[in-house]
Formats: sequence, C-alpha cells, structure tokens
Amino acid sequence: MINMAIFASGNGSNFQAIVDSELKQHVKLLVCDNKDAYVIERAKQLEIVYFAFNPKDYDSKIEYEKVILSKLRELKIDFIALAGYMRLLSELIVDEYQKRIVNIHPSKLPDYKGINAIERAYEAGEAEIGVSIHYVDYGMDTGEVIASETVQVNNDSLDKVTKRVHILEHILYVRTLKQLVKEK
Ligand code: GRF
Repeated sequence: MINMAIFASGNGSNFQAIVDSELKQHVKLLVCDNKDAYVIERAKQLEIVYFAFNPKDYDSKIEYEKVILSKLRELKIDFIALAGYMRLLSELIVDEYQKRIVNIHPSKLPDYKGINAIERAYEAGEAEIGVSIHYVDYGMDTGEVIASETVQVNNDSLDKVTKRVHILEHILYVRTLKQLVKEK
C-alpha cells in the first residue's frame, strides 16, 4: 500500500478531486504552508491528518522542511503529490523523494512555467491551454513531464477557459496518480 502526502497552499480543488477518487485510501497527510487555506477545511471534513505551518515561524526553509520530513517519515509516506503548493522544495525533500514527487501545472510544459500560467497563455492568444503532470526536481516546473493534455480556447472568456482547465486538471491528476500508484 502506497502512502501518499499531498502538499497544497490554497483552495485545494485538486486535493478534493484526489480524495474523492479511489486514491483516498492512499492519502495519509496534507501539508499546507498557509493556516488560513481552504484546503485545511477540506482535510478536516474528510478527516485527513494535516500539518499546517507558517514559514515565517522558522528561520529558514531548511528548518520547516526538517519538520515536514519528520512528519513524512513518521507516517511512512512513500509518495508526494504537490497540488497548488506555492513553494519550491529544497534538496532536503527532493533528494529523499527522487522520482516520488509529482506536481500539476496548468500549462503545456515547458511553456509558461511559474505563476499565472493560464492567464499568460490566454493573453498571448494561445489556441489551446494545457495541463501537465511532471516529476519534481530543484527547479520551478522543470522536471520530466509524465502526462499532458490541452483544452481548446475557442473564443471563450478567460473565466470559462480557466474553469475548463481546472476540470481537466482534476481528471488528469487522478488518472495519472492512479497509474503511478499502480506502477509502484
Ligand atoms: C492549480 O491550477 C494547479 O495546477 C496549480 O495551482 C492550482 C491549485 O488549485 N499548481 P487548487 O488549490 O487545487 O484548487
């Protein structure tokens, strides 16, 4: 049985999609760097153990990542899914979980790495906007891509396209994670 941790910072719709699927049995921990994030409410309702922290309470990234790492070890976490976690992980966690950390990013990587990817692709007049699942390395959205799909813009408003991208995210993330869990 693979034990999974999900890292998120905000709304948590991807977290929700994962725990609403048969992957729920694997999800043993939510890690969140924002104590006010809505994703924590979701974890409470679903009775999923969470660790919420404020990075400002620590002297450095290494200090709070040491605490995260001890939680991961304590709960025997084998696999990490980043789902809207708005921080780069340091080598402390990346090295321990080589090829066992994945992230979801709303673009067809390697295009539009970083924040506001959907808006930037839309403003650039792209005909399609992607979603990618990739392994995590030291960079921002730079690791090897595992799966990628797109939605057509079709003259829709940014709002409508964004909603469709999020729907695709939930489907693609659950499908890809199921595949990865099966392979492990
Ligand atoms: C998603 O668009 C994800 O691709 C990006 O951050 C957003 C998180 O959304 N990395 P949510 O918190 O899962 O609703």
